[in-house]
Amino acid sequence: MNKQWWKESVVYQVYPRSFNDSNGDGIGDIKGITQKLDYLRDLGIDVIWLSPVYKSPNDDNGYDISDYQNIMDEFGTMADWEELLAEVHQRDMKLIMDLVVNHSSDEHAWFAESRKSKDNPYRDYYIWRPGKDGREPNNWESTFSGSAWQYDEATEEYFLHLFSKKQPDLNWENETLREEIYSMMKWWLDKGIDGFRMDVINFISKAPGLPDGDNPEGRKYVSGGQHFVNGPRIHDYLQEMNQKVLANYDILTVGEMPGASVEDARLYTDPHRAELNMVFTFEHMDLDSGPHGKWDLKPLKLTDLKANITKWQTGLHGVGWNSLYMNNHDQPRMVSRFGDDKNYRVESAKMLATFLHMLQGTPYVYQGEEIGMTNVRFESIDAYKDIEIHNMYREKVIDGNESHDKVMESIYVKGRDNARTPMQWDSSENAGFTTGEPWIAVNPNYTDINAEQAVNDPDSIYHYYRKLIQLRKTHPIIVYGAYQLLDEENEHIYSYLRAYENQRLLVVTNFSGKEVNYKIPNELTTGEILVGNYADIPAEDEGRMVLRPYEARVYWLIS
Ligand code: NOJ
Repeated sequence: MNKQWWKESVVYQVYPRSFNDSNGDGIGDIKGITQKLDYLRDLGIDVIWLSPVYKSPNDDNGYDISDYQNIMDEFGTMADWEELLAEVHQRDMKLIMDLVVNHSSDEHAWFAESRKSKDNPYRDYYIWRPGKDGREPNNWESTFSGSAWQYDEATEEYFLHLFSKKQPDLNWENETLREEIYSMMKWWLDKGIDGFRMDVINFISKAPGLPDGDNPEGRKYVSGGQHFVNGPRIHDYLQEMNQKVLANYDILTVGEMPGASVEDARLYTDPHRAELNMVFTFEHMDLDSGPHGKWDLKPLKLTDLKANITKWQTGLHGVGWNSLYMNNHDQPRMVSRFGDDKNYRVESAKMLATFLHMLQGTPYVYQGEEIGMTNVRFESIDAYKDIEIHNMYREKVIDGNESHDKVMESIYVKGRDNARTPMQWDSSENAGFTTGEPWIAVNPNYTDINAEQAVNDPDSIYHYYRKLIQLRKTHPIIVYGAYQLLDEENEHIYSYLRAYENQRLLVVTNFSGKEVNYKIPNELTTGEILVGNYADIPAEDEGRMVLRPYEARVYWLIS
């Protein structure tokens, strides 16, 4: 297999608004990130992915960009950003930036021009259509609830916005627009950045004629999705972007791709096709959702997770490359979702980390994951800040007839603000995140769960992550080894093998809060333990194990 630095790296995602506030205005900033670089270096991180820091009116916390080549005032200045990049590089780490080019902000200069008149030179940078029979041009829905179309009085037409109405979709059919985006990307790369994470990049090609979504039941992502998720020209655009920009730099590229199947991902990440290094799949994030989408809560079945992860592990092996994640700024905290954040927080956080970091792919750690930060429960809907939460609440409770309590429960389980409460640095007021009033409340559990405590405790989740990251750097089998699932029917234990050259590893993880007897297949003989999340490992009786709640063990196999 072709060796690459980005296959051997561990990425840490920083959500700047919630990471560290250096000036007491309650909002995390770039200088605040620079102050914490030693913490990230000590964790063993290779690459930092910075969620958007560009100028933005913050309708969607920076994912609505009004100027791609300037820094948001609340986050600091370009000089601060340049200092951050230099300090990252000085510590032998790399920095990748978020690229949000499916849409811009409606406050971007391009859109201000575009909406002025039908013959404005920028008109065609966005997707404008006249109404149909006094209604929206088609039935597509916005990810943030309601129609994906917004009527604009000035020219009496609608513009498309797959996200909020302040995030108009860019028209990738327009070649001049594409060239502008490529030159903006080169400008950042020439400043020395090490790659891009590309926001919903598989939505940029819309089907000609923008037809109605015709099968709301089997719909992909949201209604209309079949006409823009992995749309007809997506591979042309990515290949063009690769040729004109990406191929000229030694960088990491990862495309965020809701609705991409493993077959799609083979096309996106096969190096012979020259598109992207890897994608973020959403399939494993959707296993605990019912037919009505993410707010339709459904318990996760471990066998579904196994089937899905296995499909991706084997589907991309030797062809493309996987990214590995179980949470980010759009998802609830992984220990709350897949583990037990009440009775076995430390054990289950370590088990999940073992499970993920032993897979083939590039692992992504989301800020606070390494100290086992948990979901939050705010009493009042007003304490939540996320536009997705508020639009959904309005649609279902204020304008609809669902009960407040039921909807709050789904927010507690799935709301994006679970991941966006401030990073918990220490047990001082506001978790050491800010000396001011934080833009969103701190999770009250910061007095127990914080980075200072974790760094000082050798048994902490933080030190366990350090260990996992070090192991990945020491043993190529963890990066490059082939994956094989064991016991696909087992509802509690997820176990798998990795094989590379003449070595084999056995990973056994208990996804339940109960003690579980587990017998490894007869033909396997375990050798030394590589890593485990309980201090003492009892001697085994012919491969019969008694796994304690959320226990994880990784063995070398003797062959
Ligand atoms: C995906 C981003 O991760 C999310 O935070 C954002 O709201 C949407 N794309 C729209 O940019």
